Amino acid sequence: MTEMRCYIHTIGCQMNVYDSGQMLAHLSGLGYRQVDAPEAADLIVLNTCAIREKAEQKVYSFLGRQAKLKRRRPGLILAVGGCVAQQEGAHLLDRVPQLDIVFGTHAVGRLADLITKVRAAGGPIVDVGMQSAPEIYNAPLPPATVQGPSRFVTIMQGCDNFCTYCVVPHVRGRETSRPPFQILEEIRQMVADGVREVTLLGQNVNSYGIKEALCSFAGLLQQVDEIEHLARIRFTTSHPKDLSEQLIGCFGSLDKLCRHIHLPVQSGADRILKRMNRRYTRDVYLRKVDRLRQVCPDIAVTSDFIVGFPGETDADFADTLALMKAVDFDGVFAFQYSDRPSAPASRFGGKVDEGVKKQRLAELLDLQEETTLRKNRSLLGSIQEILVEGPSRKDYGGGDEGASLWMGRTSHNRIVHYTAGDSGTGGAPLPGSLVEVRIERAHTHSMRGTWTTQRPDRTGRKGVDFHAA
Ligand code: 5AD
Ligand code: SF4
Repeated sequence: MTEMRCYIHTIGCQMNVYDSGQMLAHLSGLGYRQVDAPEAADLIVLNTCAIREKAEQKVYSFLGRQAKLKRRRPGLILAVGGCVAQQEGAHLLDRVPQLDIVFGTHAVGRLADLITKVRAAGGPIVDVGMQSAPEIYNAPLPPATVQGPSRFVTIMQGCDNFCTYCVVPHVRGRETSRPPFQILEEIRQMVADGVREVTLLGQNVNSYGIKEALCSFAGLLQQVDEIEHLARIRFTTSHPKDLSEQLIGCFGSLDKLCRHIHLPVQSGADRILKRMNRRYTRDVYLRKVDRLRQVCPDIAVTSDFIVGFPGETDADFADTLALMKAVDFDGVFAFQYSDRPSAPASRFGGKVDEGVKKQRLAELLDLQEETTLRKNRSLLGSIQEILVEGPSRKDYGGGDEGASLWMGRTSHNRIVHYTAGDSGTGGAPLPGSLVEVRIERAHTHSMRGTWTTQRPDRTGRKGVDFHAA
């Protein structure tokens, strides 16, 4: 039998990255091998995102290119999954008639069946059914490829919050948590394969397990913290309204939990937060950040912002900038509001002019750049513990075997590129090791340093034991 080749392209969030890993695992079971160019593939899968207009536009431009390829090679199978597939369903076929498969966010586990059917009887097939309790993560497959020391683990699917700007509840369905034993088993397996850091994923991990009366998210974190040879735990995303005292306490008590929280605030104006249906005020948000800093004084706090939400005035935007100054964020992601047809805000009055949105975004990002640079500069000369991810892809000598420049992240999620310097070890640090790096240069998006020591490898296998040193 000739070997079959697949190409998977992912647009969107970390959850999509996890889902693409699951897709690849299902395809490997069918005998597909991953290739890194669509031209070399017999099957192309696009995993899509609908969160903002721009993400959706990327989907159509990618599909336009693949449709051309399919016209030249009719045997090629074209499949589209993820949030745009869920949102558009069969309408995607009107726009891209070359598609063979449209599969929704709850159909990842059925992808292999869909492909088998198309190969036997031709397409197109549309599968955008949503189960009330999606089985898609109930029995996740081991990942088909090893991708370095850090992995995502989806712990819950969907969202029940219905922020008025957001498409997620409409395309990912209601919130459903995976049982702890499955999550723990999956992480143990990853750790046995050499993974040192996991990021627990959900639209709102703070409400993990509540509906199903499983353990709390803090309870889950405690159990993950006990997994031997795992070095670091991260999680994303947190909804401020559900950030409990118990979870805040974890930043003081769990050694493996990284000192970073991503806590999207979206706006600093109470009026806008209300229109967004966020269900907290700026004061509540500020108090939660204070509590986090009482428990873990150097915790890095990052956030998401939307500028130009319908009805946002200059005064509201000034409140957002004032909140940014009050919190002194370590980093932010900021977006111009864009209408999502299934989200209620698309029907709100008071739409903000595109030029004004652009200006507000630039002002917000300028302020953050100053803050990030100041914070990074304050670390000059300090020694930071880094989890080595691999050769630096930056174009100053790194990027291949024997590369002199390496890359990793601090507990606070700052990116550090570093050279081996005079560490005296001779060899390169193993991806997955924790090493100490002296910070010598600070930029906005990364820092540069020199490896000063590497802790002894006491696990005898992959890198060092976080607790052993
Ligand atoms: N327009 C702009 N930004 C949005 N986000 C979500 N929906 C929209 C929208 N309609 C942003 C929010 C969210 C991040 C993932 O994307 O800031 O936290
Ligand atoms: Fe995009 Fe949201 Fe879907 Fe993730 S869940 S891919 S961010 S629309």
